[in-house]
Amino acid sequence: MSGQDPAKRAAARAVLDSFVKDGMTIGLGSGSTAEIFVCLLGEKVQQGELQDIRCVASSHRTAELAERVGLSLYRVEEFSSFALMVDGADEVDNSLRALKGGGGCHYREKALAQMAKQLVLIVDASKCVETLGAFPVPLEIVPFACEATAERVRKLVQKFRYAGAELNWRKGQGGALYETDNGNFVLDCALQSIADPEVLARGLKQITGVVEHGLFLDEADAVIIGKPDGSTETRSRTSA
Ligand code: A5P
Repeated sequence: MSGQDPAKRAAARAVLDSFVKDGMTIGLGSGSTAEIFVCLLGEKVQQGELQDIRCVASSHRTAELAERVGLSLYRVEEFSSFALMVDGADEVDNSLRALKGGGGCHYREKALAQMAKQLVLIVDASKCVETLGAFPVPLEIVPFACEATAERVRKLVQKFRYAGAELNWRKGQGGALYETDNGNFVLDCALQSIADPEVLARGLKQITGVVEHGLFLDEADAVIIGKPDGSTETRSRTSA
């Protein structure tokens, strides 16, 4: 158990208590916090405390876990929208803007987040920041012509004057390039501090070969911050 687990668990419990209702279709995020939520959701469903819950998963790993804990999993293609997405984050600022993709699942997470009527992020307090960017921005990149794509990303961050920016291909097991569930690569852009995330996000979206970046700027409706003592704080877009 990591030092942050009680806080992550508190946030996962709070989303279950306050947002999850019978009959919902729920998008399951990826990462350690989302996995705690999946396990707690599975327990509630198995105990009959929640009825008619259908789930869609943002990664193969989450899908496997969801099946193991007895959740009913559906293909995402069966839906054009659904009620609720619950996911973790690597950083969240005071305006509910988030940086995600530490697990390399941000394309699928964003696709589900944009289908969900509500996205609730669950985080421990260490994820709350004044300014996004200490955590590298992950870009999912199509393998074809990937070095040329990376070069265009390098030119963009130079143009935006991110001094000292470092771009690194994420490595997987055995040192080979990490592959996402979509068969793409991940380029991690360490920028230290992102002064204008919206401008950066727009620039990245215009580069051919960049499938998706890890900036979630207007997707989150609420963020639940778990504390080590088991208490939580909820920030919602209306109050942000
Ligand atoms: C997965 O790609 C990510 O977006 C995760 O949601 C994020 O990295 C948070 O993960 P933890 O909950 O493990 O910190």
